[in-house]
Amino acid sequence: MPVLTTQVKTDKSVHGEDCETQQHGSNITAKVQLQSVTKTYTNGTHALLNANLEVKKGEFLLITGPSGSGKSTLLKLLYGQELPTQGEVIVDECNVADLQGDRLSLFRRRIGIVFQDYKLITQRTVAENVIFVLQAQGYTRKEIQRRLEPTLKLVGLLSKADCFPDQLSGGEQQRVSIARAIVGTPPLLLADEPTGNLDPDNSWQVIQILQKLNSFGATVIVTTHDEQLVRRCNHPVVQVRNGRLSRK
Ligand SMILES: Nc1ncnc2c1ncn2[C@@H]1O[C@H](COP(=O)(O)OP(=O)(O)O)[C@@H](O)[C@H]1O
Ligand SMILES: [Mg+2]
Repeated sequence: MPVLTTQVKTDKSVHGEDCETQQHGSNITAKVQLQSVTKTYTNGTHALLNANLEVKKGEFLLITGPSGSGKSTLLKLLYGQELPTQGEVIVDECNVADLQGDRLSLFRRRIGIVFQDYKLITQRTVAENVIFVLQAQGYTRKEIQRRLEPTLKLVGLLSKADCFPDQLSGGEQQRVSIARAIVGTPPLLLADEPTGNLDPDNSWQVIQILQKLNSFGATVIVTTHDEQLVRRCNHPVVQVRNGRLSRK
C-alpha cells in the first residue's frame, strides 16, 4: 500500500502562523493511517475491505474510484462519522475509535470538511456562513475578524461577503464552503467530491485553492471521480474499487 511522500512546502498558514501552533488549531500533525480497515454497514454492505493507507503530514492525496466504491466511507472514517468494523483509523497517533463526546468534537474542529453539495446556510450571508462555526466555538470577535478577510481573499470572494448563497454561482458557493472549512486553520482538510457539481473551469479553481492551502502546510485529501481532473492535477492517487485501495 502507498506510503506517499509529497513534502510540506511551507508551514505558514493563510493567517501567517504555523499550522500547529494556533490557539484553536491545536497540535495535530495530520498524519493519517488506515490499518487493515474493513467497514461493513449494518445492512451488510462491505464499503471498505482490508484497507491500508498512510498519508504523511503536508501531502496532497487524490482518491478516485467509481460511484459506490467507498470513497466517502473512507473520509467518514477519518473524521469519525463512521467507525471501522475491523482495523484501526489513526489520525496524528490518535485512534479515532477511542474518541467520544468532547474529545471527538475537539478532534473534528481540527479537520476541515468540504462536501460536493456545499451545505451552506441559505438565510446567512457569505461572511456569516464562514464565521458561523468560529462563533459557535467561542472565538473572540477580534479573532474572527482577523481570520475572515484573508480567508475570503484566498477563495476570491471578498467582494461577495454580504451576498446570500442563492446570489452566487455554484463555483462561488463551493468556494464559500472551502472558506468555511479553512477559516479555523485546520491542519487536515478533507474534500468529498468538491468538484462534483462544477464545470471544468470552476473545478480547476477549487483544486488550485486546495493546492494553495496545501502549500501553506495543510494535509489535503480529495475524492473525485473526474479522471480528467486527476490527470491535470499531478498529485499522488489512490484508487478505490469495490472497497479495495490500490496505488494508481
Ligand atoms: N449508511 C450506509 N448504510 C449502508 N450502506 C452504505 C451507507 N453508506 C454507504 N453505503 C454503501 O457503501 C458503499 C460505498 O459507499 P460510499 O462510500 O458512499 O461510496 P462512494 O463515495 O465511492 O460513492 C456503497 O455500496 C454504498 O451504497
Ligand atoms: Mg461519495
